[in-house]
Amino acid sequence: MLLTNQDIKELEKVKRLNIINSITGIKPANLVGTKSASGQTNLAIISSVVHLGSNPALIGFIMRPTGTVPRHTYENIKETGVYTINHVHESFIKQAHYTSAKFDREESEFNAVKLTEEYFDSCTAPFVKESQLKMSLSLVEEVSIKINGTIMLIGEIQQLIIPDEVITEEGHIDLSKLKTAGISGLNSYYGLTHLDTFPYARKEELPDF
Ligand SMILES: Cc1cc2nc3c(=O)[nH]c(=O)nc-3n(C[C@H](O)[C@H](O)[C@H](O)COP(=O)(O)O)c2cc1C
Repeated sequence: MLLTNQDIKELEKVKRLNIINSITGIKPANLVGTKSASGQTNLAIISSVVHLGSNPALIGFIMRPTGTVPRHTYENIKETGVYTINHVHESFIKQAHYTSAKFDREESEFNAVKLTEEYFDSCTAPFVKESQLKMSLSLVEEVSIKINGTIMLIGEIQQLIIPDEVITEEGHIDLSKLKTAGISGLNSYYGLTHLDTFPYARKEELPDF
């Protein structure tokens, strides 16, 4: 199959959405936890999380356009400046998926999908207790993407929780040991298998292929 730019534009809406959402490959499965200024918690599955730099430790994710549809995650982050990002473990992919349903502002997805709020130190944003690897962040920058009205929210990591048994002395984290899920498109969840690890690539040290 070869699709031109014009073919893509003429595709039926849902089919186009499914195709274009899948072609970048496996995306990370994360739940963003927030709390409004009045104390209402919220949880949303997000597949667009990306690492932007390690020093300072910056993580970004793409927020869908906030125009007509209420985006509780966005409102809460704007109100409080803090949020958590929690890996989705294979054991709760179904619950994680259903956080994407349109709940009212006063309904918490934590209750609706039966995941548990957890708090560390002074961070007011809720973590997901069932999640193995999780972090809290402070919003440091918001980048508007003019072409389609999406927003990149950039946060600096404040707290990072990693199980000791999945991290090596050099800081490598084995995601297959963690049983963190991956996402394709907007509906399909995958398990991850560690295939191999290679040293830093130098052209003077190429192996035999
Ligand atoms: C697999 C999957 C991935 C998603 N990824 C994103 C994303 O990266 N950014 C986004 O804004 N919404 C994403 N969504 C949609 C949000 O989960 C959804 O809009 C959610 O209801 C937002 O909730 P809120 O209004 O409580 O903030 C995704 C949905 C699914 C099912």
